[in-house]
Amino acid sequence: MKTLSVDHLLGIKNLHKEDIELIFQTADNFKEVINRPIKKVPSLRDITIANLFFENSTRTRLSFELAEKRLSADTINFSAASSSVKKGETLIDTVNNILAMKVDMVVMRHPNPGAAEFLSKNIDARIVNAGDGAHEHPTQALLDAYSIKERLGDVVGKKIVIVGDILHSRVALSNIFCLQKIGAEVKVCGPNTLMPKYIDALGVAYEPDLRKALEWCDVANMLRIQLERQDINFFPSLREYSMMYGVDKKLLDSLDKKITIMHPGPINRGVEITSDVADSKQAIILDQVENGVAIRMAVLYLLAGKIKK
Ligand code: CP
Repeated sequence: MKTLSVDHLLGIKNLHKEDIELIFQTADNFKEVINRPIKKVPSLRDITIANLFFENSTRTRLSFELAEKRLSADTINFSAASSSVKKGETLIDTVNNILAMKVDMVVMRHPNPGAAEFLSKNIDARIVNAGDGAHEHPTQALLDAYSIKERLGDVVGKKIVIVGDILHSRVALSNIFCLQKIGAEVKVCGPNTLMPKYIDALGVAYEPDLRKALEWCDVANMLRIQLERQDINFFPSLREYSMMYGVDKKLLDSLDKKITIMHPGPINRGVEITSDVADSKQAIILDQVENGVAIRMAVLYLLAGKIKK
């Protein structure tokens, strides 16, 4: 049986192309399962998973919980806002207390970059990074690339532009690593102030002009402006941002080809995309959410195969 080259999913950077292909093949099987009348398989019946969310989440948290239930795992859910973290308990103490309850895997979202890697080095459980600060969001990138493959038939040779707040985005970094590993060409677009200084070193071209970026691409992944991570103003106003970098139906229809629109959510409707774009047939935003369950089932299943019982 094929296995992943890693014991934890901490990011896309340390995955091989073959790992991504294996996750996609496994997700194909689980996608078939979750579209059956009986959507559950017993694969993780003897596995206990803790979902630790130290930061807000809707899609990722619910998607992991559903993936675990579909695989018949036992789950416990932890939200920092209602926990003893508020009384000063450290991350390692919190997790060790949870592990004392015989947990096999930990899915964690945390505001600090590197938090998932820190856990992987200090505790005896498989770790899945569900987003660590502005660093990586590996399952988001996997479900995004899987959704592109599903819509366009292949990712190899496809041109993807990631638009918006690249500087503060873990989704952008994980998408760049993932798409490049499986043969896509990636550009970024947005205000110069929201571009990281290291972007050239990633082999990604910067296109400041949104129309040119859209004319070049097959797929535009429209990122949310992450105001919660911005301690200074990176552009004059949301209205101006929207005028320069927002996509509306008029702009989309004025292109000479039908491009695919993606968004990781949550959407700021009317800022990065208008409602008529978000809800159009060119958008695959809800397909991304649906595929998130199959991708997370695949990741959990493959990592569970590495647990030594
Ligand atoms: N895409 C994503 O990570 O969404 P949530 O923050 O709602 O999990």
